[in-house]
Amino acid sequence: MVIKKICCIGAGYVGGPTCSVIALKCPDITVTVVDKSKERIAQWNSEKLPIYEPGLDEVVRQCRGINLFFSTNIATAIKEADLIFISVNTPTKTFGNGKGRAADLKYVESAARIIADVATGHKIVVEKSTVPVRAAESIMNVLRANQRSGVSYQILSNPEFLSEGTAIDNLLNADRVLIGGEDTNEGNAAVEELCWVYEHWIPRINIITTNTWSSELSKLAANAFLAQRISSINSLSAVCEATGANVSEVAMAVGRDSRIGPKFLQASVGFGGSCFQKDILNLVYICECLNLPEVAAYWQQVIDINEYQKSRFSAKIIESLFNTVTDKQIAILGFAFKKDTGDTRESPAIHVAKTLLDEGAKLHIYDPKVVIFNISCYYFNVENCQILEDLTHPYITDEPENVKDSITIHSNAYSATSGTHAIVVCTEWDEFTALDFQKIYKNMIKPAYVFDGRMILNHEELAKIGFVVHTIGKRM
Ligand code: NAD
Ligand code: UGA
Repeated sequence: MVIKKICCIGAGYVGGPTCSVIALKCPDITVTVVDKSKERIAQWNSEKLPIYEPGLDEVVRQCRGINLFFSTNIATAIKEADLIFISVNTPTKTFGNGKGRAADLKYVESAARIIADVATGHKIVVEKSTVPVRAAESIMNVLRANQRSGVSYQILSNPEFLSEGTAIDNLLNADRVLIGGEDTNEGNAAVEELCWVYEHWIPRINIITTNTWSSELSKLAANAFLAQRISSINSLSAVCEATGANVSEVAMAVGRDSRIGPKFLQASVGFGGSCFQKDILNLVYICECLNLPEVAAYWQQVIDINEYQKSRFSAKIIESLFNTVTDKQIAILGFAFKKDTGDTRESPAIHVAKTLLDEGAKLHIYDPKVVIFNISCYYFNVENCQILEDLTHPYITDEPENVKDSITIHSNAYSATSGTHAIVVCTEWDEFTALDFQKIYKNMIKPAYVFDGRMILNHEELAKIGFVVHTIGKRM
């Protein structure tokens, strides 16, 4: 079989960029990305894409309407496709067995059921969502239990390793592509078909093939290793603050060992994003279910240190501001979980903002992309604002009206900081390093404080201007 048509179920942060790049690099393949959300598909078909990702607009503009389509017609796209990616969300379960830890596979299951309902002929079904080990077996159970005559399936695991903010570059120049499949003639043939798709632009040597379960586990393992590095350096940042060592110098000295390497050693207010926490919790849950409590406890500690880091940073703000922030005006610069994305899922800024709100602070929040992405927010019709949605969520507060009254969303850093007692940097946006802090200082209440949760500002310069400066992993 030569793959001529691909369908991707799930037009999110993974499905959208991944399929756009496949369409760009495989002009001989028609790619249709489908989603149950009409709004999301309408945005993918508009001038303003639903996600901010550097370079993505350009790729979509080149392919959309030629060999890249976004549609809500899920059944037709499945029927016509030779290969179907399942790229739906796999959040942490919020109730029932495994609540707060296990991955909720209801969206994966519903995608499998739609495929089972409408598929004709032979389909290669590819698990792109991040899933627990042996999830492919569950997908196969759904498909085979509902199999009609003339229909056959092969299931592959092909986890995605892109990072938000650098997704297009990660997809174009992937360190590796991982494909797991069944070790049978049919399984190997399906693996080869998917290899052929990636070989349009990825050198074969960078395409790794394994058994299905290794592929599924490798995805969880990769995220766990990455998050573990951040928790390791963050744990040492506390030691630095207590001793006078500087965490940037420690990271540099440690990272120069070629066995360790310099990446992912940036101490911070804590890691965020939709996946690290959810995937490690999932790994912990799997270990507990496998009766491996020591392994579960080992990985749980990565999450615990991250919680500790977020709490430590928030506590430092309150303590430094004379142990009370009630009615104090505090500017939060950055709300996305990292720079170059408008995504706020599990952003450490949410934790910091919640703690300050609980203590009675008035917050002035500015983020370059989270704000811009919510047009209504721009005009201060705050009802549809992502930031407010995050901070008034029932998990965060049971007094949403009070929270709304305590927050002002700003369209630039100067207005956000004007008249405030303190600035808290939660996201490492480049534009924050280029701000005129002399001007900002003049318009703040004195003593004026800066809490740099990302270690991106010039602390010595700020101190010279007159700011009282606190940061992570360095005594000021
Ligand atoms: P997302 O929430 O942005 O997108 C998922 C989309 O799937 C949503 O638009 C939703 O409407 C749609 N959907 C859910 N069920 C559906 C169904 N039955 N039919 C049609 N559409 C359906 O999620 P995401 O960030 O793209 O993540 C998707 C998966 O990829 C997750 O498992 C995640 O862990 C993994 N992943 C994410 C990233 C990342 O950077 N966000 C990176 C690597 C892997
Ligand atoms: C992460 C992984 O890097 C991807 O490989 C993976 O595909 C993805 O999760 C996923 O499975 O969803 P992402 O969460 O988009 O990607 O972004 P990262 O660059 O990994 O950053 C995650 C968080 O860690 C951010 O809050 C970031 O600011 C923080 N971080 C990162 C640090 O605090 N220090 C660092 O040194 C690096």
